[in-house]
Amino acid sequence: MPIAEQEMKDRTGDACELVPENMRRLGRLQLPELSEVEVVRHFTRLSEMNYGVDSGFYPLGSCTMKYNPKIDELLADLPSFTMLHPYQDETTVQGILEILYKLERWLAELTGTREVCLQPSAGAHGEFLGTLLMRAYHKSNGNCEKRSEIIVPDSAHGTNPASATMAGFKVLVVQSDNDGCVDLDALKAAVSERTAGLMLTNPNTLGLFEISIEEIAKIVHNAGGLLYYDGANLNPLLGKARPGDMGFDIVHINIHKTFGTPHGGGGPGAGPVGVSKELCKFLPVPRIVFDGERYHLDYDRSGSIGKIRGFYGNAAVLLRAYAYILSLGFEGLREVAEVSVLNANYLKKKLEQVKGLTLPYNAERPRKHECVFSAKPLKNETGVSALNVAKRLLDYGLHSPTIYFPQIVDEALMIEPTETFEKEEIDRFVNAVQKICEEAYVNPETVLKAPHNAAVSRLDEVKASHPKTMALSWRMYQKKNKSNLQTP
Ligand SMILES: Cc1ncc(COP(=O)(O)O)c(C=O)c1O
Repeated sequence: MPIAEQEMKDRTGDACELVPENMRRLGRLQLPELSEVEVVRHFTRLSEMNYGVDSGFYPLGSCTMKYNPKIDELLADLPSFTMLHPYQDETTVQGILEILYKLERWLAELTGTREVCLQPSAGAHGEFLGTLLMRAYHKSNGNCEKRSEIIVPDSAHGTNPASATMAGFKVLVVQSDNDGCVDLDALKAAVSERTAGLMLTNPNTLGLFEISIEEIAKIVHNAGGLLYYDGANLNPLLGKARPGDMGFDIVHINIHKTFGTPHGGGGPGAGPVGVSKELCKFLPVPRIVFDGERYHLDYDRSGSIGKIRGFYGNAAVLLRAYAYILSLGFEGLREVAEVSVLNANYLKKKLEQVKGLTLPYNAERPRKHECVFSAKPLKNETGVSALNVAKRLLDYGLHSPTIYFPQIVDEALMIEPTETFEKEEIDRFVNAVQKICEEAYVNPETVLKAPHNAAVSRLDEVKASHPKTMALSWRMYQKKNKSNLQTP
């Protein structure tokens, strides 16, 4: 008998005999056979090819890739949390319930909302919950069928219209004005008795604060709609201004961005949603309540839309947020906002001097957390696009910014330095961008063919993300390899 099978038998005894024969695994597991040193070398090499916030500047606009304090990781990893089971009786999990209850209260305080639900797993999931809450609200007013439209600005993140569509709404897009903010006349023309609500992020994706927010809220509310806050850009407002005070009825928070959870590669995340007093009754169950002595899970909410996710949310991410807020305190959070804005504006001033780049939409106005430059002049004059600049930055040992978003900026380079990178690191980035633009005028080929020094060169972007070519496991890789070999 092969060693692996014998080992399995030794470990499980005759237990496998209890599994019906037709459900037993046939043969041995198809695992690669490698020595320890090969495995160590493989993973060490992979880790050296990787780049993260702990390696250097990571200015991925709108993603808020800030440094994630290690103390938060330690807390989330404590066995007293990791060994809990969500089906445990509530009397045995009073500690975590207390933490989640307090976190809800803190987030409500920071966003100016009445109650917060921690369940959604990401910003987009929070948006989806938000649009379902809009539906529940209009339904309770007897207007569910009529209120069928959600308005989004043309600078919105793609998840806003996607979430509204998933919830069954029709999406209307309103233009930005010449200053990059919501065009009030276009908004007035868009609202009607069909309006369920407006989804907006403030500061918007250009990094500009929507100074007419009170007027915007009035227009939407007067039309009978609700105002939804996309909280992806809450970082520069922490402790300074609250969406609830601006007139927003529903607010999501991208916990993984603002409150420091490592979230490269798509996860993990949490997107708690806060609501105004009128909407509390629609929030998903269970709600965590405190009777003055103990914490309870309350399922008895007749107006609730039901559940949006299992249990209480992505607990490990929420624990990190709790630790993050606790360790910084209110003054620390205000400083986060101040330094993130200072860094973005320092970077803006520096990059404004680079030949080939422009800052569309009222360059005079200060930005909040990020600034969006256009490489259109560079492309027109040298053929070097925003994508080429992003690729060349890898040769300088830096992560690229977000590119081609928001879509209202041609050849967009969306740069968010966050509060956690020091002046020297920002200068290193600015110098690299300056050098790349100079190279583009003198020797465009170098930039067009970049990266030259990265672990992998230019990827076929379509192929790299196509389900037919992606192999996410050893078994998938083997299967694909087999079918590739069979393809003539
Ligand atoms: C402005 C904005 N809104 C919403 C989202 C969606 O958030 P998540 O990725 O957590 O689903 C993002 C994500 O980058 C964003 O930048």
